[in-house]
Amino acid sequence: MRKIKWGVIGCGGIADRRTLPGMMLADNAELVAVMDANPEFAENVKEKYNAKYAFTDAKELLALDEIEAVYIASPVAFHKEQAFAAADAKKHILIEKPVALTAADAEEIEAYCKKAGVKLGVGFMMRFHAYHQAIKNIIAEGKLGNIVSMRGQFTCWYPEIEGAWRQKFATSGGGSMVDMGVHAIDVLQYVSGLKAKTVAGFASNLVFNYEVEDSCNAVMKMDNGAAMYIEANFNIPDAAASCRLELYGTRGSILAEGTLSQVEAGKVELRIADDSLGYNAQQDVAELNIQDLEVTFGNMYTKEIEGFGNAIINDTDVPVPANEAIFNQKIVEAVYESSKTGKFVTL
Ligand SMILES: NC(=O)c1ccc[n+]([C@@H]2O[C@H](COP(=O)([O-])OP(=O)(O)OC[C@H]3O[C@@H](n4cnc5c(N)ncnc54)[C@H](O)[C@@H]3O)[C@@H](O)[C@H]2O)c1
Repeated sequence: MRKIKWGVIGCGGIADRRTLPGMMLADNAELVAVMDANPEFAENVKEKYNAKYAFTDAKELLALDEIEAVYIASPVAFHKEQAFAAADAKKHILIEKPVALTAADAEEIEAYCKKAGVKLGVGFMMRFHAYHQAIKNIIAEGKLGNIVSMRGQFTCWYPEIEGAWRQKFATSGGGSMVDMGVHAIDVLQYVSGLKAKTVAGFASNLVFNYEVEDSCNAVMKMDNGAAMYIEANFNIPDAAASCRLELYGTRGSILAEGTLSQVEAGKVELRIADDSLGYNAQQDVAELNIQDLEVTFGNMYTKEIEGFGNAIINDTDVPVPANEAIFNQKIVEAVYESSKTGKFVTL
């Protein structure tokens, strides 16, 4: 099988924690070079994953002819400049979410890549979770009927850390909603096929004193009229987190717990109504028909890398296109605007 030769820009964070271990398992990938602003990180990651080169300047990595694709996993504030440089060097780009600090910047990157003739994909890897794929299929088969309500919750404990780029607006673009809630927004829209239309949100700092919000809640009206409720918190201990997805339709519902995660794990329950669908004045749900959903777990990052590589090899669309990631970012920006103005925002 043809292997895509990869370079990694910003290799010391999520790249080292998850994406490179995933890349090592990919059938169609070969790691050639890594780059990080921190020379120690670059050298360690090169040794750990047996890359040929380690750099502290992205230009040197991009000058290597043999590299066909780059994975950009630097802090968000560097994404735009690095994506432009990669497109100039004619490398295909898999970029971490969010694509850039603002949706407007992300649109510039998308247009630049299109003009340069390089593919641009985004790291919403949770789409590849075996449970999320199974949920998407169940909904597409009509087993839930028409979706009327959805809820997504993604949280962690993120205390003040000196110098952390995620805690300042200028380097992150926002807090818990742009960093975590956006995964719930992405997965719920992806599995349901619905898109947010009107948005209302609240962003606040309830626990921590950094610039960006540590709590953000939003309710959205989808294009079919259903509601989507999103909770994103940096102030719930991991031991207390449930990271739920809930989808309710006119024939059934799905409850997923722990599937919004960096590892394929969690539990999913499916409830399907019997055909009677009569009105039950007793309102007792004692006769719940709960089915566990069974899947085979894999590695979301391996699937992300293989999927992007196959799009290059076969010259097909990338699995997570930039326009969908940019739409997610527009939703997050609408949540922040609504929180400031106290008004609904229509996309
Ligand atoms: N999809 C996911 O699973 C996932 C998870 C975490 C983070 N992310 C995204 O990945 C990106 C990075 O987040 P992180 O958590 O890895 O951050 P991080 O701070 O842990 O790591 C960033 C790395 O980039 C390096 N760096 C700093 N400035 C750089 C520059 N100018 N050029 C190149 N490298 C530079 C740092 O030394 C560090 O090694 C963000 O866009 C974030 O939202 C995605």
